[in-house]
Amino acid sequence: MNDPKTILEPIAGFLLDISAKLRGDFFNPHSLTKLQNLLRAKAYTGATSIIEVGSFRGVTTRRLARFFQHVHSIEIEPALFAEAQHRCAACKNVTMHLGDGKHILKELTPKVSRCLVFLDGHFSGGITGQGDEPEPVLAELDILARDLDNIVGVVVDDFRMFGFDKGWPRKSEVMARLEYVMPEPEWQHTVIYDQFISMRRSPAGSRSK
Ligand SMILES: C[S@@+](CC[C@H](N)C(=O)[O-])C[C@H]1O[C@@H](n2cnc3c(N)ncnc32)[C@H](O)[C@@H]1O
Repeated sequence: MNDPKTILEPIAGFLLDISAKLRGDFFNPHSLTKLQNLLRAKAYTGATSIIEVGSFRGVTTRRLARFFQHVHSIEIEPALFAEAQHRCAACKNVTMHLGDGKHILKELTPKVSRCLVFLDGHFSGGITGQGDEPEPVLAELDILARDLDNIVGVVVDDFRMFGFDKGWPRKSEVMARLEYVMPEPEWQHTVIYDQFISMRRSPAGSRSK
């Protein structure tokens, strides 16, 4: 979760990640490394909009607003929704949605285009909320399948927790659903820095290397 107390915290986390990469060490990435994944996926797919499921306090939401033409962010817990809404109040390209990602994705995906979807809406302890299941990623992927033409990429956060936390599907189940909903070779799938990343290949394959 992303809850920095000062601007120095994410910068320090990013520097630690760089140091781990240089050492060739395994590491649990910090928030700016994960943001960098999202921005790489944006560059690769040409995404212009993003849907974030799970706003938490809106820290990532506000960062995303600097890079995408439009940001939709969905949060189920009313107090966190209010905090995220307040944090993003000055960002005219952010629309906050209060509710369960599963229901709001159904409303949003027919309306977006060239959209990257960041699935990060799950119970995370403390003040966080949840819908009818702790980690609804499989149901969310089935919803995305209905409007896949509008979607160019999907990023599922917290790879390490799948099959580990209670009520979370296994890693292999998530990958199988990603491959089923977004079949290769039109889509390509990878796992890097604690995220499943699925991206639509460009028609000419020009960005697929
Ligand atoms: C890991 S945090 C999100 C972190 C955030 N994306 C960030 O980068 O700062 C997960 C959030 O998802 C919310 N959540 C849990 N289940 C949800 C659901 N079904 N729909 C929408 N949000 C949900 C939780 O209340 C929590 O705030």
